[in-house]
Amino acid sequence: MDTYRAIEERARRRFPRIAFDAVAGGADDEVTLRRNRAAFDDIALIPRLLRGVEEVSTEVELFGQRARTPVLLGPAGISVVAGNRAFGEAIRGATAAGTFTALSAFLPLDAVAREGEPPQWAHLYLLRDRDETRRRIETAQRRGCSALILTAAAPVNGNRERELRNGTTFPLQLRVRDVLRRPWWLGEYLSRDLARSMGERVRREPAQGGPWDAVRKIHLSGQSWDDLRWVREMWDGPLLLKGVLAPEDGAAAVEAGCEGVIVSSHGGRQLDSAPAAIEMLPEVVAAVAGRGRVLVDSGITRGTDVVKALALGASAVLLGKAWIYAVMTGGADGITRLLTQLEYEIGNTMHLMGVGDVADLGPDSIRLRAGRAWERVAPR
Ligand SMILES: Cc1cc2nc3c(=O)[nH]c(=O)nc-3n(C[C@H](O)[C@H](O)[C@H](O)COP(=O)(O)O)c2cc1C
Repeated sequence: MDTYRAIEERARRRFPRIAFDAVAGGADDEVTLRRNRAAFDDIALIPRLLRGVEEVSTEVELFGQRARTPVLLGPAGISVVAGNRAFGEAIRGATAAGTFTALSAFLPLDAVAREGEPPQWAHLYLLRDRDETRRRIETAQRRGCSALILTAAAPVNGNRERELRNGTTFPLQLRVRDVLRRPWWLGEYLSRDLARSMGERVRREPAQGGPWDAVRKIHLSGQSWDDLRWVREMWDGPLLLKGVLAPEDGAAAVEAGCEGVIVSSHGGRQLDSAPAAIEMLPEVVAAVAGRGRVLVDSGITRGTDVVKALALGASAVLLGKAWIYAVMTGGADGITRLLTQLEYEIGNTMHLMGVGDVADLGPDSIRLRAGRAWERVAPR
């Protein structure tokens, strides 16, 4: 059974700490990382009885594409822990499970195309190098990506202290002792062509001291709504702003021409003490007010989490750590097994709730624990 817990445990056992922590770690004291999970426990699912539900459909439509489940693989720059091949594997695994993926800006789209896999949704960070940003948009367009995710939650990197403690560099460079502690990894390192993935990164984006220095050097740290509008003008297709937590930003995104937003606390990796994304979802849904699609990620590990997100108004969810562990430990088949498990869990949950179609999930399907919501401070 490839549940999240099982594959996370597998990754923890098999991979050197420096690689596992680069995926598992959060910023500062990892408050948001924990919150992202804990918040789901404070949402209850309400079963309805005797509703004659025989078959359950988990299918959704997103910008003209149909997916068997409302679960996508979210963007993640993971060449350094799983190799460039991981992206092709992720696409293959997701396609086999009837859903699709959003790719990282760091992903060499042409390399994936060489593997014969059509890229799906593309992902972009705003870079200091505007020409490179434009080139990435043009490449995504040329390769036929059907939507673009612009992540605005990383003008600088989060303060991930596990990475500091482990001496993680950007890009990741393993030391002999890291490998010796996990001999299994050595085979992985060689077979997944990790050395080359890393080598490519070293040439293109040399690290300058700590991991966050490198990000600051590459990302446009003073990014603004004008930059989003600049992308909007260039990109011909659905555009989604990722990293939204404030309802005002959700509203501003659709007003600036985005077709959707992704409510996300970046898996707890960026601003620590940010709320769990699922906690802010209802406010963002209300602010977007049907003018765009609202997706959510951060902390999704179970079918019940997906059902809760849909009941709170999300059109779909994205996975982060879950798919990364799956590809690190099982390649394309690992991805398919994880997504198939989630499909089963979502369908089973809905059946137990007496809901036959995801479109019928709504406020009546859930209750929130009273007194735990974020409240605004009264104006002074
Ligand atoms: C190792 C790793 C790399 C990531 N890289 C990116 C990235 O390049 N761009 C981005 O928008 N989000 C990135 N994310 C964040 C994910 O897209 C997603 O928002 C987050 O992981 C969801 O939370 P979860 O891991 O709890 O599911 C990354 C996450 C991880 C774990």
